[in-house]
Amino acid sequence: LFAGSADFISAAPSLGSLPAMNGVEIAFAGRSNVGKSSLVNALTGRNTLARTSHTPGRTQQLNFFDIGGRLTLVDMPGYGFAAVEKAKVAAWTELIHAYLKGRANLARVFMLIDSRHGLKAIDTDVLDGLDKAAVSYQIVLTKADALKKSEMEARVRGVEAALAKRPAAYPVVLLTSSRDDRGVPELRATIARLLAE
Ligand code: GTP
Ligand code: MG
Repeated sequence: LFAGSADFISAAPSLGSLPAMNGVEIAFAGRSNVGKSSLVNALTGRNTLARTSHTPGRTQQLNFFDIGGRLTLVDMPGYGFAAVEKAKVAAWTELIHAYLKGRANLARVFMLIDSRHGLKAIDTDVLDGLDKAAVSYQIVLTKADALKKSEMEARVRGVEAALAKRPAAYPVVLLTSSRDDRGVPELRATIARLLAE
């Protein structure tokens, strides 16, 4: 699946401009700078497919990518970036929520969490919203290359424990690094299984 073509479809600044649904859709959400765009690139093996940046707030629209004609990956704008104007934050939040609740072919949302920081209050707010709307999501810890092995194990266990009472959460937490590719084959396999369902 990921060995084939990967192409940018379009960027949607609003719900009215979403591309037509095609195949199974998977979205990548999380705080600004957590590594969403980098992970889309790591999955596809194409380092310049999604635009990444050291400064948070790089991705400002919903970006859609076609994978082999059967899968659509959605790189979402990050939340929790304080330096963006309030009005913009409100508009993004509205767009993100409306998209997540309304997209019929959305099979799963990967909620990215920086493995160095774990779940923050703003993340649990977003998870609350997903649980309420019954949008199926799975936690993906990012930047695993920045942690020691003992820290990684504790982080995974801690986050898994925090998910126990969340009805829409898939109980397995994935640990990834776009820098050294750790966990990326497992994430590809998880997505391939969703396509087979
Ligand atoms: P927004 O679009 O602003 O919401 O950010 P994003 O979540 O798309 O993050 P992006 O992929 O642009 O990456 C943000 C920063 O984190 C960049 O400086 C990346 O190089 C860095 N980064 C991404 N993935 C990893 C990783 O696996 N390990 C490390 N150490 N750094 C990473
Ligand atoms: Mg981005």
